[in-house]
Amino acid sequence: MTHRRPLIAGNWKMNGLSGDGFELAEALVDGMADVETPAYDMLICPPFTLIGGIAALLDDSAIALGAQDCHAAEKGAHTGDISAAMLADAGCDFVIVGHSERRTDHGEDDATVKAKAEAAQGADLIAVVCIGETEAQRDAGETLDVVCRQIQGSVPGNSIAANTVVAYEPVWAIGTGRTPTNDEVQEVHAEIRKEISGLLGEEVAQGMRLLYGGSMKPGNAKDLLALADVDGGLIGGASLKAEDFFGIAQSCP
Ligand code: 13P
Repeated sequence: MTHRRPLIAGNWKMNGLSGDGFELAEALVDGMADVETPAYDMLICPPFTLIGGIAALLDDSAIALGAQDCHAAEKGAHTGDISAAMLADAGCDFVIVGHSERRTDHGEDDATVKAKAEAAQGADLIAVVCIGETEAQRDAGETLDVVCRQIQGSVPGNSIAANTVVAYEPVWAIGTGRTPTNDEVQEVHAEIRKEISGLLGEEVAQGMRLLYGGSMKPGNAKDLLALADVDGGLIGGASLKAEDFFGIAQSCP
């Protein structure tokens, strides 16, 4: 079986001013320096305003830096937006695209998300493409159909494991303290990998990291991260406390 190195990713969302944001980044850098041979990759995705400052803080650290969104265009008349090239220039390695909060707050559909992922890949960033069903879709038994449709619609057709990560985040599990059962998570992840295999080929599918996101905490991380098709986590609330974030990271098998 292909070994996929776990990725522990923190999505800070719209949290962090220079005081607490830099303090958190520094605590993570210090914490990571104490881990002798981490069994995982660590990524943090602060808000745009902190990216430049945190890039400098992470300079010699093993922690990777990402943003939470990018525009699909290379440059131009898009007031308030940030291009993938700008993120790469600012020191990012990754960018999250298609988070459910972007899909909801900004009306992003699969085609927009795919265009953003293509832009990210084109700027040599790794795109973290987010998908996941709403509570109504789960209750209607549509979860597998929804995530497969989102994979087809949001993941660029020439993606490879080196430039793409997929994050499964059930919308109803985000920030709620609720999660699917471990069996349900594994079932969805296995289906996602199968769908990626159909889209991109079995070799790419076997190499691609699939993250689980939605109320991941130190207390449930060990079981979730042990699932065969879960290759890390995309963590919101618990990524804002260094101790909790490391608690999750240290739960990697
Ligand atoms: P929580 O970990 O706060 O549930 O957020 C998950 C998420 O949306 C990460 O992108």
